[in-house]
Amino acid sequence: MRNGKFGFGVLGCGVIAPTHVQAIKACSEAELVAVCDIDEAKGRKFAADQGGVTFYRDYREMVKDPAVDVVCICTPSGLHADGVIAAARAGKHVFCEKPLDIRRDRLSRMIDAVEKAGVTMGCVFQSRTMPDNIRIRRALQRGDLGKLTLADAFLKDYRSRAYYASAGWRGTWALDGGGALMNQGVHGIDLLTWLVDDQVERVFARTDHKVRDIEVEDTCVAALQFRSGAFGTIIGTTSCNPGETRRIELHGDVGTIICTGNKITRWAVAAEPDGRAKDIDHAQKAVEEGVTGDNKAVTAQGHVFLVADLVQAIQQGREPYVTPRSARQAVDLILAIYESARRRRDVAVRYA
Ligand SMILES: NC(=O)c1ccc[n+]([C@@H]2O[C@H](COP(=O)([O-])OP(=O)(O)OC[C@H]3O[C@@H](n4cnc5c(N)ncnc54)[C@H](O)[C@@H]3O)[C@@H](O)[C@H]2O)c1
Repeated sequence: MRNGKFGFGVLGCGVIAPTHVQAIKACSEAELVAVCDIDEAKGRKFAADQGGVTFYRDYREMVKDPAVDVVCICTPSGLHADGVIAAARAGKHVFCEKPLDIRRDRLSRMIDAVEKAGVTMGCVFQSRTMPDNIRIRRALQRGDLGKLTLADAFLKDYRSRAYYASAGWRGTWALDGGGALMNQGVHGIDLLTWLVDDQVERVFARTDHKVRDIEVEDTCVAALQFRSGAFGTIIGTTSCNPGETRRIELHGDVGTIICTGNKITRWAVAAEPDGRAKDIDHAQKAVEEGVTGDNKAVTAQGHVFLVADLVQAIQQGREPYVTPRSARQAVDLILAIYESARRRRDVAVRYA
């Protein structure tokens, strides 16, 4: 630590890196001290743009830098575990992008390394930080919907051919680990299970690459059975033009809540005398407040929350807001969906 600030090193200087830098700058107890990228020209330019912080080409060198206390993992998804393990072994805390990694063995090894080293690892699932989503989770925990019957996630995105061509790792099994679900849909899948505070027990799914010439899926339908007994669906695609705002629909025998983007657009929970849920229409309010219409736009709001939380978690010796064990569950579920689609049968989801 220098001047009472945690030194942050950003590993991977691509699309999401500036959002991490913004969040670090927004935290009075954090400071960007180093960046790393195997693409030297790109990394050096990024370092210069950030006021000339130290540049590393090799992350194994960056994690040794005494000025670095926390490493942000912003590399392609299938490389996350390598960065996390190197950082943890060097005694550094970690802030890791979604999905945590793309394979079960790698997830287990990274979490083991963090626990063994006794460092703190915060994970990026920024939707969990949004006020309306927190309200919904609390309502479900209170039992406002009664017995949960259906929990659905509609994750209908659009990604162009140019998007998949924009970096060699996109749309590959080896480094993206999947497509519409593992990369884009993982946010909504994590949110769905976090909101209902339950795990999916079994899945039955179909996946396909219907439009894009990529190895991984651009479209998926999955039927879910939660441990509670509730059913649900995940519809995920990157081939829905122009793409729809994410929608999560939660129904119980007492009420319904619908969330569009990160805004509550339906809240029908207070029972009328005939037992029917009273429909408090939040749609107009949400429009006035601005429902996020563009799934591609990542604002820094969630990262700002999560970096500040990580710093506090380290200081207080507590768990971060998004723990590694909770963050890996979305990946475990997605891998079960892929397995179901491959085997053309329903499968049990294996959690670590
Ligand atoms: N939270 C979000 O909403 C969000 C949004 C976008 C991306 N992401 C996640 O962030 C990660 C990165 O995505 P991106 O879109 O920024 O990718 P990107 O391709 O734009 O950037 C990745 C960078 O990592 C560098 N890199 C690759 N291997 C490296 C290595 N061994 N050592 C050092 N640098 C290396 C590449 O040169 C590149 O600059 C992915 O896991 C993605 O899922 C999260």
